[in-house]
Amino acid sequence: MNAWEPALDCVKCARLAAFRCDNRALYPDFYNAPVPSFGPLDAKILIVGLAPGLKGANRTGRPFTGDWAGDLLYATLLKFGLAQGNYGQTANDGLKMTHARITNAVRCVPPQNKVTGDEVAACQPFLMAEIKAMPHLETIVSLGLVSHNAVLKALGLKQSAFPFAHGALHDLGGGLVLADSYHCSRYNTNTGRLSEEMFEAVFKALL
Ligand code: URA
Repeated sequence: MNAWEPALDCVKCARLAAFRCDNRALYPDFYNAPVPSFGPLDAKILIVGLAPGLKGANRTGRPFTGDWAGDLLYATLLKFGLAQGNYGQTANDGLKMTHARITNAVRCVPPQNKVTGDEVAACQPFLMAEIKAMPHLETIVSLGLVSHNAVLKALGLKQSAFPFAHGALHDLGGGLVLADSYHCSRYNTNTGRLSEEMFEAVFKALL
């Protein structure tokens, strides 16, 4: 784990630390800690999700792994050659991220899958550290509005200058592009807000 990852017992967010404590008692076999980023630091693409799901990434310890959203995300990454191997919904499935890294705007699982603005702000230094640690970074893919806003804040940019829109490519300057996508959540795919084709188009535009 890299030095800038949050401590396993991070207490920056009292609500999330208390939830972690409850989950450690309820689900002692789960990872139950801030989920570290996944993928090579020399990648050109950083994908930023929202937060781990209780029985997904919070259980397995790898972003999106075991979460509903991970099925579509990893299938897409494999299809476009950004990952290699097979996605088996576990952290030891041998899947390798080859050309992208994945992180979350908030590293700890939130109750009811909902983060607060204060929690996003508290986790911001970890996102900033990730961005800084990627020397060849060219594109950040934000999955959803919370991620989009967290990225802009971490980079010190105004939200009003870069309105969120699915499929948008924002030139952030300094050779960095922000690509927006609706989050690949069960809710968005079930309601038809996001189709597989719409999600794939976001990644196709990057290649
Ligand atoms: N799992 C994650 O790790 N992040 C998300 O945004 C959703 C599910």
